[in-house]
Amino acid sequence: MIEPVTPSAIGRSPARVDGLAKAMGLAPYADDQPVPEPLHVVAVESTVPRGRISAVDTTAASAVDGVVLVLTHENAPRTATADRELAVLQDDRVHFRGQVVAAVVATTVEAARAAAGAVVVDVAAEPFSVVVDPDELYAPDALNAGYPTDTDQGDLDRALAVADVVVDRTYTTARTYNSPMEPHATTATWTGDDLHVYESTQSVHGARDTLAEVFGVDPERVRVTCPFVGGGFGAKGLPHAGAVLCALAARALPGRAVRFAATRRQMFRITGYRPRITQRVRLAATVDGVLTGIGVDVVQETARLKEFAEQVPVAARMMYAAPHRRTSQRLAALDVPVPSWMRAPGEAPGMFALESAIDELAHACGLDPVDVRVRNEPLRDPATGKPFTSRGLVDCLHEGADRFGWYDRDPRVRTPRRGPWRVGRGVAAATYPAYRNAANSALVRFTDPGYRVEIGAADLGTGAWTALAQIAADALGVDVARVDLAIGDTRHPRASVAGGSSGTASWGTAIVEAARAFRDKFGAGAAAGDEVLADAPRNAVGDTHAAHAYGAQFAEVHVHEDTGEVRVARLHGHFDVGRVINPRTARSQLIGGMVMGMSMALHEDATMDAALGHTSNADLASYHVPTHADVLDITADWLGVPDPLLNPMGSKGIGEIGITGTAAAIANACFAATGVRVRELPITLDRFL
Ligand code: MOS
Repeated sequence: MIEPVTPSAIGRSPARVDGLAKAMGLAPYADDQPVPEPLHVVAVESTVPRGRISAVDTTAASAVDGVVLVLTHENAPRTATADRELAVLQDDRVHFRGQVVAAVVATTVEAARAAAGAVVVDVAAEPFSVVVDPDELYAPDALNAGYPTDTDQGDLDRALAVADVVVDRTYTTARTYNSPMEPHATTATWTGDDLHVYESTQSVHGARDTLAEVFGVDPERVRVTCPFVGGGFGAKGLPHAGAVLCALAARALPGRAVRFAATRRQMFRITGYRPRITQRVRLAATVDGVLTGIGVDVVQETARLKEFAEQVPVAARMMYAAPHRRTSQRLAALDVPVPSWMRAPGEAPGMFALESAIDELAHACGLDPVDVRVRNEPLRDPATGKPFTSRGLVDCLHEGADRFGWYDRDPRVRTPRRGPWRVGRGVAAATYPAYRNAANSALVRFTDPGYRVEIGAADLGTGAWTALAQIAADALGVDVARVDLAIGDTRHPRASVAGGSSGTASWGTAIVEAARAFRDKFGAGAAAGDEVLADAPRNAVGDTHAAHAYGAQFAEVHVHEDTGEVRVARLHGHFDVGRVINPRTARSQLIGGMVMGMSMALHEDATMDAALGHTSNADLASYHVPTHADVLDITADWLGVPDPLLNPMGSKGIGEIGITGTAAAIANACFAATGVRVRELPITLDRFL
């Protein structure tokens, strides 16, 4: 019954299998899931950044028509977690402005919102700090994803002392917010000790395990369902306070479904963000632009409530050859909301600083910035000494330069005016680790003449529904139309997070393994209903190799001579992302990452009001992101060379690499155009006046 097909499904561009349902509004998101007589919970937020709740008056709120319950730290069900971000309404402490300090459950959102506004919370305010004090920094035990905090190879100080050329500059990236279109939302129902939640999440199994831990129940008693997600960018990698609040309210109302949907303003307070980061980069080099030393020292803001250490210096540890290298990261604990993953945590800010500094080196040496990068290409991973599984950086630089027309640029800094504009081009490298996560399983069941394939993966809107069906089709040797894929439920076999650009590699490996096991077991004699559940094999690549994706970002900017306005006229990214499963969705993801990188370069800046202790532009009217009018000519392409060492598909992740290097390419182009080097993002027009 198994009919191999050619050509393979991988490499073709079928439209999204979920596209029509989404376009027609028929795809139920977490807040749309049909449940009987849902109640709605609305949070009351602290208006001071630090203190102790002295009294809560719920009288007026309770009297609002439709109110079912007012939750405070005094009457909320107790939870079990040691995670301080998730210990919602468990004590009288206030740790940041916007923290949930009470909540109202009502029969309508309107009633809940009105009643929430009537809850009176008295807080005895205490002194707070939202500004980094250089004398109060500390070293975390490790960085996100387990990277060491500090590294030291050779003798960087000596390399700097004897170098022909030294670059010693400090770069700052802004506090930025993921702001997915679909806000965080949860619909929760408890039946006895069984919890079912519809959650907008990047990981149903991760959300299940977290909620089980918070409520002290067996993970098997928690079901998380999430067929569709309207964007996450890391903010939905882990459940945040809203999900816990929703399940907490439902816990107090057994058998009732309770909904929580974060407001856009709450998305700036309780769902994570990328913290503000300062990096001192020091490069030691010969006159020929050959690096002898690389130093990166990072200072990153975090929350006093819960630590998050973005792995900022890790890209500088592996990107270029140099015998002497030292990196460090320190944190400043502030009375601010808890930061979390945001698209390419670490690499996005890290590559802005490193790739800006490399451009400064190229100019100091009078060399082409593409050439300087090629000259410093390492043969092995400088951080570990391991060979790379594959490393297409030089090819990306060369092919990308040709495609972009890099070499017909005017190499002078501060080019002649073209009308009112000065025109500049910049380049930067991109990189992101090629992760494949542990603990992935998939089920294959023959449904004659097709197959049911199940795995608890999440599609953030990136195309996982489609790409996984293509992988399954090839693995089973059938047309993709014969694959009935099911994802997004903890009732499916265990899957890892749609994060770290690891989803397709991790889930795809499990699907290929399950298909192989099915064919081994049943051969051509399968009968309808025959099924196999298989675990992906352990990922041993990291034992012997360094695994990364690469890219080269090219930007042409026009900077207005009179107003300082920056227009990104052209952006081209050329990537080494292994074998591309679906060119249509891959291009979309890469371009999306590049737009987010442009946004990081020119637009996004959550401003901290030091007097009030909060982000003052906590909405999408005053927190700027690009519109279509800002995105002009933007293209992404790739080498198309599979990396067979990584996984059975030969693919590398594509979700995050597009945002890496982009901001540096734009900043470098701005320097070429104007002679003004902007080292603090975002690049606003006043920098050029
Ligand atoms: Mo991505 S920030 O690892 O979801």
